[in-house]
Amino acid sequence: MRLLVCGGAGFIGSHFVRVRMHEHGDAVTVLDKLTYAGREENLAELAGEPGYRFVRGGIEDPEAVARALDEPESGQGAPEAIVNFAAETHVDRSIAEPDAFVRTHALGTYVLLEAARGRGLRYVQVSTDEVYGSIDVGTFTEASPLRPSSPYSATKTGADLLVQSYFHTYGLEAAICRGSNNYGSHQYPEKLIPLMILNALHGDALPVYGDGRQVRNWIHASDFARAIGCVLDRGAPGEVYNAGGPDELTNIDVVRRIIELAGAQESLIEHVTDRPGHDRRYSLSSTKVRELGWEPRVRFAEGLEQTVAWYRENAWWWEPIRSGEYRSYYENQYGRALAAE
Ligand code: NAD
Ligand code: TYD
Repeated sequence: MRLLVCGGAGFIGSHFVRVRMHEHGDAVTVLDKLTYAGREENLAELAGEPGYRFVRGGIEDPEAVARALDEPESGQGAPEAIVNFAAETHVDRSIAEPDAFVRTHALGTYVLLEAARGRGLRYVQVSTDEVYGSIDVGTFTEASPLRPSSPYSATKTGADLLVQSYFHTYGLEAAICRGSNNYGSHQYPEKLIPLMILNALHGDALPVYGDGRQVRNWIHASDFARAIGCVLDRGAPGEVYNAGGPDELTNIDVVRRIIELAGAQESLIEHVTDRPGHDRRYSLSSTKVRELGWEPRVRFAEGLEQTVAWYRENAWWWEPIRSGEYRSYYENQYGRALAAE
């Protein structure tokens, strides 16, 4: 298949592009704005491969979208489907500065949907369990009510509703795939797991929000990428598919496991002020996407060990981040500086 992958230079998008090119032989055009979270390095191994093309631009910019869709490499046809990963993705940043979340999720998704509608393309929206809000017991299905609680999840919900309206109103062949918390290589260190790994490796304090008893449902990024691929290949238009990981853990358990794998001290744990409006627990049922033939391959214990090893061995990837924008973000967010390199 020939795909336009928006946000393909980010964490999960780059896993998806690798899976589709290497396991399915797809041709992929990546459209990415390269915000602080987007990095061409994530796709370095694909540069120069036949069928791969990178276009820099925002999904909210109709000209950039048209360039990516209508000007294929010579000898390559135009994309047949759009898979949209492009998003602002960090809840804490959405609380501090929500503007880009509204622009990218609302306006950006609208521009992509119009482009898909005008050209008769298939469309997959990558979404999140956070649209359902928090659940104390049990697990969310695709029929659960949408009760987002942060500017991040509220704007992601708005994008999902717009996608569904394009199916109902215009018959656009659009489906949605909602994932639980992802982890794995190439994740920007503002998120819990890479933040704790890099801090543990550097001897920095490990900032646990509140009591650390919040629960997240962890899925390896390669498993989520394959679930999105299943929805693209076999999902029914107009449908939503949840993809939750096989393991649920409290944050404090995750941090303790990272300490062990990184060979750090428990005394680095520091309980800090809780996130405003912090969702207590996420949990997704994946029965529907399993019926399409998907199942997760990576259990958390094994995936976390591989992830810690990847960060340990790939300082070339995170060093420029840890010495750049992230350093000032960290100081603002946590009120303390990171250790010097
Ligand atoms: P990420 O922050 O690592 O990457 C986002 C990518 O989108 C970056 O490459 C960035 O440059 C690009 N981008 C941002 N705004 C853009 C714009 N306006 N135009 C074009 N490109 C833009 O994010 P991620 O963790 O890989 O998440 C990818 C998708 O998966 C998002 O839609 C997110 O909501 C969803 N999701 C993430 C998780 C998770 O745990 N990380 C879980 C479920 C769903
Ligand atoms: P995060 O990785 O930001 O993902 P999300 O908010 O989308 O679930 O956070 C995962 C959990 O870890 C969440 O309950 C908040 C918590 N957390 C901390 O305790 N300390 C931190 O420094 C960060 C970034 C997150």
